[in-house]
Amino acid sequence: MNPLYSLFNPEGIAVVGASREPTKIGHLVLKNLLEYGYKGRVYPVNPSATEILGLQCYPAVSTISGRVDVVVVSVPNVKTLEIIDDAGKAGAKHAVVITSGFKEVGNVELENELVRRARRYGMRVLGPNIFGYVYTPARINATFGPRDVIPGNVAFITQSGALGIALMGSTILEGIGISSIVSIGNKADIDDADLLEFFDEDPNTSVILIYMEGVNDGRRFVDVASRVSLRKPIIVIKSGRTEAGARAAASHTGSLAGNVALYETAFRQSGVLSVKSVEEAFDFVKTLSWNPVPEGERVVVITNGGGAGVQASDTLADDGVFLEKPPEDLATEVKKFVPSFASLANPIDLTGMAPEDWYYRSIRLALANPAVDAVLILYCHTALTSPMGVARAVAKALEEVGQRKPISVAIIGGAEAYEAIRYLTNLKIPAYPTPERAAHALAAQIRYRRYREYLVKRATAA
Ligand code: ACO
Repeated sequence: MNPLYSLFNPEGIAVVGASREPTKIGHLVLKNLLEYGYKGRVYPVNPSATEILGLQCYPAVSTISGRVDVVVVSVPNVKTLEIIDDAGKAGAKHAVVITSGFKEVGNVELENELVRRARRYGMRVLGPNIFGYVYTPARINATFGPRDVIPGNVAFITQSGALGIALMGSTILEGIGISSIVSIGNKADIDDADLLEFFDEDPNTSVILIYMEGVNDGRRFVDVASRVSLRKPIIVIKSGRTEAGARAAASHTGSLAGNVALYETAFRQSGVLSVKSVEEAFDFVKTLSWNPVPEGERVVVITNGGGAGVQASDTLADDGVFLEKPPEDLATEVKKFVPSFASLANPIDLTGMAPEDWYYRSIRLALANPAVDAVLILYCHTALTSPMGVARAVAKALEEVGQRKPISVAIIGGAEAYEAIRYLTNLKIPAYPTPERAAHALAAQIRYRRYREYLVKRATAA
């Protein structure tokens, strides 16, 4: 069994430093754990209190009679070593150390001692300098971030605490379902590779997103990521790409951001999809977690606007995806209901006259055609149609044919377009406000497919 299994599936969690003060971090973590509905036992630990949030309080972890697999530590840094000793002797397996004031401010020795002590008891350390972790299948929210996230299949590992907390909220707005969010902070012990190994085996996770400033053991990361990428896409936002960014990373989590080119090469070799921004990462998460992996690279673009089609074609070409003529039988079928001046090349331009029904029929035909591997749909809001009508046409075609091929949709317009995007997002159909974003996100799936093919070949040649 993976050594981190009991971190994500613990029988009992103790919150050390569970404060009586509603605004303190230890209190908020306890409250989130209780309110998000963790089904295991929760034990507040605070020598000065008898009861917090209706639960009996314990003076130390060693005084708890039930089994404690995880200890969340929220006491000042100078007290952390004694907590580790006590929890370690009590048999805890994981210490989730929220406390700051370690390597990131030059306290390297304290951080090393923390890990040394934990190892003495066979305990693993998450952090320090973190906001905690979430694992939705076990209803664990041991963070001081927002209480609710949408349960789903995306695991998010973040080296930045504040950004991670903020993104917890953004995933709700973006309709992205989460299996886990793990704040790893200074990565004194548990690092990205350990978590990748866990999520690789985790049936609840199918895509892994990492916000990374630096990596401690590059070789191990590449080895593990290469194995995991064979089954699950990994997306990395690598920050600290510039000199200014690298300086910021050093004082943030004490990480060495390193040489950009080296990271990029390592990511490519291990099949990792590297992105520059949070927006790009979330765009990729949608196609990669909601669509199946494409069986080939034959993309058909359907549009009602030539310009949107050109922009999408350019983006795809920038990403190394080149459009070929659509299959003959598809063009013949579409020709039956579009005007004579419609273009039946690729993009298929239904013209500005296109009503919702033409979208429905052409998407249905494209999805059902065996010579098409993925479909990109572009719609520019015109007075002839409503964005919601087109969104419904997309959903109907997809429902009838079945989601066996990747699809990506751009709905370009104002407030109504935004509503239609939300409608599709709620149905887990990737939808974006620009042709470039929709095309780039679809191309990410083809890039992942290529990486995976390369990794399979490399593995079989070895
Ligand atoms: N065992 C258990 N509880 C104890 C012990 C002990 N040995 N000793 C003291 N306590 C209690 C305290 O009495 C207090 O409870 P009370 O408020 O009911 O009296 C509680 O533990 C907390 O202790 P405080 O001394 O009040 O510490 P405080 O809560 O102010 O700070 C904290 C602790 C939050 C860990 C702080 O030191 C810290 O590191 N803050 C930064 C955390 C952070 O930002 N992490 C990175 C997150 S990522 C991001 O950037 C968002």
